[in-house]
Amino acid sequence: MRDTVGLLCRYFAAQPLEIVVTHSRCVADLALEIANNLSLSPLERVFIEEAALLHDIGVSQVHAPGLGLMGTYPYIQHGVLGREILEREGLPDHGLVSERHTGVGLTREDIVRQNLPLPLRDMLPVSLPEQIICFADLFYSKKPGHLTERKSMALVRSKLIPFGVEKVEQFDRWREQFRFGVADGDV
Ligand SMILES: [Fe+2]
Repeated sequence: MRDTVGLLCRYFAAQPLEIVVTHSRCVADLALEIANNLSLSPLERVFIEEAALLHDIGVSQVHAPGLGLMGTYPYIQHGVLGREILEREGLPDHGLVSERHTGVGLTREDIVRQNLPLPLRDMLPVSLPEQIICFADLFYSKKPGHLTERKSMALVRSKLIPFGVEKVEQFDRWREQFRFGVADGDV
């Protein structure tokens, strides 16, 4: 297991680190819960934990005064920025997790339609670890005071509705595939 906190500390040297560390720990724990449901291998579990802990490293570069972040880039770019950082650190697979974790993933068409300041390419989670981390991330916000609160399935689902029915359908497919929240009746 890599020293993910050490890596985060380097990039957050001039920025508050606690929000991302706490948020990412919650995402990693949920992603590992799903990895257990799916009986993934120890090696896959290590990758999932590392990539989940690092998926928001690009937040260190963004401007979001509400979160105490005084970088220069728009928040929406944190996935792409994270990929650049992680590639530079020799972690290209972790970088893909970072680039592909916004919502349930962004298509080229989403970027054009919403006029997002992002490179024009598909940023959809492809591998199983990418999909699990993207899914798990939906359940946790970075709102100070609410970092460790897991959102209900209904809330996560409702927040996807404005982005199109295909986003909700993707969420529902993952939910079933990951056997998540079926037993507790949270719909
Ligand atoms: Fe996140």
